[in-house]
Amino acid sequence: MRERMRLFQRQKFESPPRKKELKTKQNKTKPTSEGLDELEIAPLALTNDSEQTAEEKSEGAFHPLLKHQLAQHRGISEPLPSEWESFVRAIDVVYRQFDADRAMLERSLDLSAQELLRANFDMRAVLQAFPDLIFLLNSDGTILDCKGGTTTDLYLPKEKLVGKKIQSIPLAGVSSKFSDSVNLMKEKRSSVTLEYSIDNGGRASCYEARFVPLLEHQIIVNVRNITDYKEAEEELRNTLSLLSATLESTADGILVVDREEKIVRFNRKFVEMWRIPEEIISSRDDNRALEFVLNQLKTPEAFLAKVRELYASPEAESYDLLEFKDGRVYERYSKPQKVDGKSVGRVWSFRDISEQQRLEEQLQQAQKMEAIGQLAGGVAHDFNNLLTVINGHCEFLLDQMGDDLSPRKEVEAIRKTAERAANLTRQLLAFSRSQILQPKILDLNDIVMNMDKMLRRLIGEHIDLLSVKGKDLWPVEADPGQLEQVIMNLAVNARNAMSNGGELLIETCNLTVDDSVKGEVPPGKYVTLTVADTGCGMSPEVQKRIFEPFFTTKEVGRGTGLGLSTVYGIVKQSGGHITVQSVLGKGTAFSLYLPMSERAILEMGTGKIRLEQFKGKEAILLVEDEEEVRAVIIKVLNQQGYTVLAAVNGSEALTVLERHSGRIDLLLTDLVMPIMGGTELAEKLASRRPDIKVLYMSGYTNSDSVRQRILSAGSAFLQKPFTPTELTRSVRETLDAGKKD
Ligand SMILES: Nc1ncnc2c1ncn2[C@@H]1O[C@H](COP(=O)(O)OP(=O)(O)OP(=O)(O)O)[C@@H](O)[C@H]1O
Ligand SMILES: [Mg+2]
Repeated sequence: MRERMRLFQRQKFESPPRKKELKTKQNKTKPTSEGLDELEIAPLALTNDSEQTAEEKSEGAFHPLLKHQLAQHRGISEPLPSEWESFVRAIDVVYRQFDADRAMLERSLDLSAQELLRANFDMRAVLQAFPDLIFLLNSDGTILDCKGGTTTDLYLPKEKLVGKKIQSIPLAGVSSKFSDSVNLMKEKRSSVTLEYSIDNGGRASCYEARFVPLLEHQIIVNVRNITDYKEAEEELRNTLSLLSATLESTADGILVVDREEKIVRFNRKFVEMWRIPEEIISSRDDNRALEFVLNQLKTPEAFLAKVRELYASPEAESYDLLEFKDGRVYERYSKPQKVDGKSVGRVWSFRDISEQQRLEEQLQQAQKMEAIGQLAGGVAHDFNNLLTVINGHCEFLLDQMGDDLSPRKEVEAIRKTAERAANLTRQLLAFSRSQILQPKILDLNDIVMNMDKMLRRLIGEHIDLLSVKGKDLWPVEADPGQLEQVIMNLAVNARNAMSNGGELLIETCNLTVDDSVKGEVPPGKYVTLTVADTGCGMSPEVQKRIFEPFFTTKEVGRGTGLGLSTVYGIVKQSGGHITVQSVLGKGTAFSLYLPMSERAILEMGTGKIRLEQFKGKEAILLVEDEEEVRAVIIKVLNQQGYTVLAAVNGSEALTVLERHSGRIDLLLTDLVMPIMGGTELAEKLASRRPDIKVLYMSGYTNSDSVRQRILSAGSAFLQKPFTPTELTRSVRETLDAGKKD
């Protein structure tokens, strides 16, 4: 092409062709004086000689310029000699090719110029719309041109900048950085980026300057205001740090996964809660982690199914409880993580609620026992009154009968049955914790020692009894009789669990429970008594119900199911706790925790006393609302020589007292009565007859405050149902109590 261009240039002709000669069929020329520039030349294809027409073969068909030259050389009319023909034709072809090339070149030049113009225009528009500052520098940093950005103003008006060196722009601390960057860029021969900030009174503006080398040693500098970006970056850093601190400070285990269920993030608590070894964490193997997690669950399939279900529904939220093989219980929440309303992953959080669940279960159990206790106490109250009457009348009958055997046997049977019934109600009262305990300060070892013989007889020879007594036991406060009852009940149960023989261990020791032990027993100092056997043990289901009254696994008629509920009631009423551990087929251990008593005096007394010793001549004011009970008591007391004045309630008692001018030695009163109860009456009497002794009796006291008042006043108390002997013994003891002082 270049070659052809050169040829074309050499072919420039000096004078224009004449009009007439330029007329050709093929080439429409504009015969003007301006020369060939004006010629319209159609694109020309090279043709073969054989295809040319006769006219074309004639001179008139030649390229105008060739025709013109031939004319000049040979004159206009002279025909072309035939030996020239092929030569001239070849020249014609070359001429025509020149024309075609030139036309093409002109068109392409025309196009390039237009494109260049457009590109230049576009470039300016882009620069104008560009938010950055642009400097064009020569190699030493002199500003050749510049423009302010839409968000970044020039430091000075353009006129003042052009011609100055960029290094000398008066910006504190920045000029030297510009200088360094120019030098560095020249040295590296590649672009250099510089970040700097300018404090314009308050908010510092941050900039990024990019120095890019151009051809011919020029430099283009692009300065961008990055203040907003920097602030956003800072805010992002703060947010991330806050997020990370929050994630690590929560008590919940948190795991974040992406849409493909790949682990994205987790906190330390998550690792701790799931006990994932460091080695699995560092392997970053999600499948291994999942397998490790699943292995701990009671129903791994259910959990896996849930995971898959949630994976299939990315918008779903869900919650449930996870039960572990080792008894732990976790709450599980799962929520989608959303960006612009679209879910991009999922957050799983886990909360250990094992302790909370245990406490809730305990509370539920305690509430259930409380309710049953109230019911049992109420029933026992009514029964006690009935049994007192039955017992009393039996006793009278027996007294009157003498030694006549036949009716005596039946009455004895009635009395025995009534006694057994009275025992049952006593146990119910113990369970309902509404009996009056008479706690004494005691050494648990003494109790165990005193019971040793009796226990050996009770459990039989096929069971070995082993007593381990803790040294220097702290004193505890409990009702010794009740405590014996507790140990007896536990020992009998143990015996029943070891029908083929075994070992019964009774162990006492001091124990301090501190805050670190999260169990059924609150922190404090305790003396513990453990009764353990190597018997059949219990299933967890049985264990849950053993303290319920009437719960028994024994056959009908063999167990009442009141043994452990009595134990439970007595222990709770003494301010203690009871725990049980049992393994089916291996054995069971019950542990009592009795709080250590600060009082250090040991008070224990026993003794067998007979009815005859309880006679007396004192005057007694009896207040009892149940008519039949009242009648029995009057009869018993009269028989023993006492004078009895009776009233049905407190207010009637006051009237009786006013009318009675003689001496009254004892007030024997029921605690609960419809009009003025026992304690209120005693208080009223205290001012009028200060030397009167008081003996309360009741079948049921469910009010803690009443029990407390009786105990703190040191008043005597008689638990219903009572036998005539127990009644007269209590009356006598109360009357004599003052005399000993
Ligand atoms: N040491 C033990 N080993 C195995 N199971 C026991 C033991 N102690 C109690 N149990 C279970 O607890 C149940 C309730 O005991 P509880 O003493 O309250 O009633 P009981 O022994 O069945 O009847 P009762 O004591 O009134 O004669 C028993 O039936 C038995 O299933
Ligand atoms: Mg029992």
